[in-house]
Amino acid sequence: MCGIVGILGEGPVAPQIVDALRRLEYRGYDSAGIATLEGGRLARRRAQGKLRNLELKLDESPLRGAIGIGHTRWATHGRPTENNAHPHANRRLAVVHNGIIENFRELRDELKAKGHGFATETDTEVVAHLVGDAIEAGRRPAEAVASALPRLKGAFALAFLFNGEKDLLIGACQGAPLAIGHGEGEMYLGSDALALAPFTDAITYLEDGDWALVRRRSVEFRRVSGELIKRQKQRSQAGALLVDRGNHRHFMAKEMHEQPEVVGRTLAHYLDMAAGEVRLPFALPKNIGKLSRLTLVACGTAYYAGLIGKYWFERFAQLAVDIDVASEFRYRDVPMQAGGLTIAVSQSGETADTLACLRHARRHGQRVLSILNVATSTMARESDIVAPTLAGPEIGVASTKAFTCQLAVLACLAMAMGRARGVLDPQREAELVSQLIAVPGLMAEALKREHAIELLARDLAKSRDVLYLGRGTSFPLALEGALKLKELSYIHAEGYAAGELKHGPIALIDEALPVIVIAPSDPVREKTASNMQEVAARGGRIILIGEAGAAQEAQVETMATIAMPDMGAEFAAIPYAVPAQLIAYHTAVFMGKDVDQPRNLAKSVTVE
Ligand code: AGP
Repeated sequence: MCGIVGILGEGPVAPQIVDALRRLEYRGYDSAGIATLEGGRLARRRAQGKLRNLELKLDESPLRGAIGIGHTRWATHGRPTENNAHPHANRRLAVVHNGIIENFRELRDELKAKGHGFATETDTEVVAHLVGDAIEAGRRPAEAVASALPRLKGAFALAFLFNGEKDLLIGACQGAPLAIGHGEGEMYLGSDALALAPFTDAITYLEDGDWALVRRRSVEFRRVSGELIKRQKQRSQAGALLVDRGNHRHFMAKEMHEQPEVVGRTLAHYLDMAAGEVRLPFALPKNIGKLSRLTLVACGTAYYAGLIGKYWFERFAQLAVDIDVASEFRYRDVPMQAGGLTIAVSQSGETADTLACLRHARRHGQRVLSILNVATSTMARESDIVAPTLAGPEIGVASTKAFTCQLAVLACLAMAMGRARGVLDPQREAELVSQLIAVPGLMAEALKREHAIELLARDLAKSRDVLYLGRGTSFPLALEGALKLKELSYIHAEGYAAGELKHGPIALIDEALPVIVIAPSDPVREKTASNMQEVAARGGRIILIGEAGAAQEAQVETMATIAMPDMGAEFAAIPYAVPAQLIAYHTAVFMGKDVDQPRNLAKSVTVE
């Protein structure tokens, strides 16, 4: 994740900006930069590598302006070079960005057709051109930003500094966090409260779709639609906690809302988005073309991620997958081919059962690739290859952002293996990459259903049992949704393959049983529609998670429909995980449960 800082100060702001960027180093970065107004004119310093390199540049050529923006860049589009480092600027403005502008290629083509030249490989530069164009056309900075924001798709946060504007910064938030710090005669912008902690604990978090005009004595909040709104100031404890809950009630809520940003960051680690292809940060085993099957082991939510990944390995890499929960796998007598590949999936990298399977596989001459969220874990040290999920620390015991980052990595792995095995052609790969790039923005859209889900949760909270149904990759998602509800609200819930309903579970259907059906517009949606009719015919209460109109198309009455944005079917499981998580979270909150620390559960089960 990139880091954003902005300061409207009383004296030179460059040293304060660098200090604030240093508090964002935990997010990871590979270049840094700063822009200020020197006598009202824009000036920039940028450097590849760590902040120390930027400081050396500032020592050589100091910036003394009292207003500025700074950035630590984690390369997504374009190599980690000085030229690609933010801020990106033209003669009208400088801009810093965190996240992904997923439609940057079409915007860049449009701007090139208008005669614009591009100096960098980044998606961010299109924003500088769009806003700069509007200012050249005579618009004031705020109007120029207002005209550009609706054109940007994806999950991102932005901060702008304008030539000649000594008392104005503009910040925008769409699926990636941005906070405003209220000082005494000074004002601040930052990716989180931690960056601003030394300056102030009076923080306002922008909400998704907000943007703000920040001046030393005032802040004006607006929506992308242009409407003026109010946002509350609050006291942040970020100074005390390295990981703070931000403006969320629970860590789990914060982590669900971080998903567009961290899934985008994870995808950027595995994709060359500009080229539209997978680019793994490690080499696959040389014999990947000779393998006919993979072994996959994990526990709990990580196991359900693996089950979804199984569909993708089969579809994109033509690899069969022997998958099992680690606690079973380790005691079976599984024939393991020496030279074969075992994939272990784990958030913590410390789960005893999964670790035991990793060691078992290695004793049988297998290479082990582990998908892990903790780079310093035991499993990281004992794996041949580590595929990181860049979810950041996951504090809530119920796994959310690690799960969707695991899915992002599994999708990229399956495609990379397909290409390495010569069974995934470049055009199909580009199509799939394009669908993946859209996922963070779709997750941000899905999060906007939260209020409707909160209302639905009050009804669900009265249930004794809940049944989840899905087909294809929605089947493991049904299992995960049921696990989330069980482990958070303690309501019994069960996930089932929708096609299995008639083989027994249909006996459960009556007016008392909510049935949550996960049904994206995929090749099996007509089959799932039939299953919904089977449920409706017996008085079952259907909650449909699907595209708007899906219930009408299936000709069923639902208790509720959580309308999801239209999307490609291949990776729908990733955005569709969001409503499943929100249902469990809000049901548990309504019931007064301890969401971050559910009873009997541990974040990492390091014993059998
Ligand atoms: C997830 O919500 C659960 N808390 C649990 O099932 C967890 O996924 C499982 O214990 C595996 O943990 P790991 O990913 O750290 O290996």
